[in-house]
Amino acid sequence: MTRLETARLTLRPLEMGDLNDFVAMMEHPEVYSMMGFGIMPDGRKRARTLEEWRPRFEYRIAQFDWEGFGEWAVVMKVSGAFVGMVGLQFYLLDQGTVATPEIELFYGLKREWWDQGIMQEATSAIVRYAFETLKLRRLTSVCYRENLRSANVMRRVGMTVGSHPGNPDGEMLGVLANPHDAAASAGPAE
Ligand SMILES: CC(C)(COP(=O)(O)OP(=O)(O)OC[C@H]1O[C@@H](n2cnc3c(N)ncnc32)[C@H](O)[C@@H]1OP(=O)(O)O)[C@@H](O)C(=O)NCCC(=O)NCCS
Repeated sequence: MTRLETARLTLRPLEMGDLNDFVAMMEHPEVYSMMGFGIMPDGRKRARTLEEWRPRFEYRIAQFDWEGFGEWAVVMKVSGAFVGMVGLQFYLLDQGTVATPEIELFYGLKREWWDQGIMQEATSAIVRYAFETLKLRRLTSVCYRENLRSANVMRRVGMTVGSHPGNPDGEMLGVLANPHDAAASAGPAE
């Protein structure tokens, strides 16, 4: 049920066998500068090592059993190549004075697979799954202000993108309400 198909892609829950491909994706400076980096003593960003990623991977894999969602490998149907990942995770959205529990859509592609509409195809399938199968009320997504590609991914799935309320100078927030949720615009039920 958590395996999804699109025209060009298979989305399947991450497996330990994806770890090397995942680390290779995260070693590219244009990828790790935007997410999942370590910090060097002089403050510069660095790629995380395989051993740093391993426990995170184990957590992600277990998460599917606990929550019914987590992180999917994005795989080309035609070749079986791992090209990236897309996921859903719980987090607290800092709105300045309060923080709200949300579910975040996150994603990344190996650098050589950018500019082919792959993430648009993958995120569209996950958004459909989130709204139709998981019945989530809304999805959010966060990126650095300078990450124009990521903001465009958010826009292409229909999110409204604006300044992040908890960090308006540094980050952008995308928000998309479930179109099937008649109560969404009326706020939480009494
Ligand atoms: C975010 C990220 C996945 C976006 O990659 P991307 O290649 O821009 O996004 P897509 O795969 O959806 O491709 C869309 C582009 O392909 C083009 N394209 C080419 N062929 C296409 C096709 N057949 N169908 C649709 N789009 C196509 C689109 O026009 C679009 O380009 P544009 O934005 O210049 O118009 C990528 O930049 C990345 O991995 N960044 C590092 C990690 C990251 O920032 N993650 C988000 C953290 S918040």
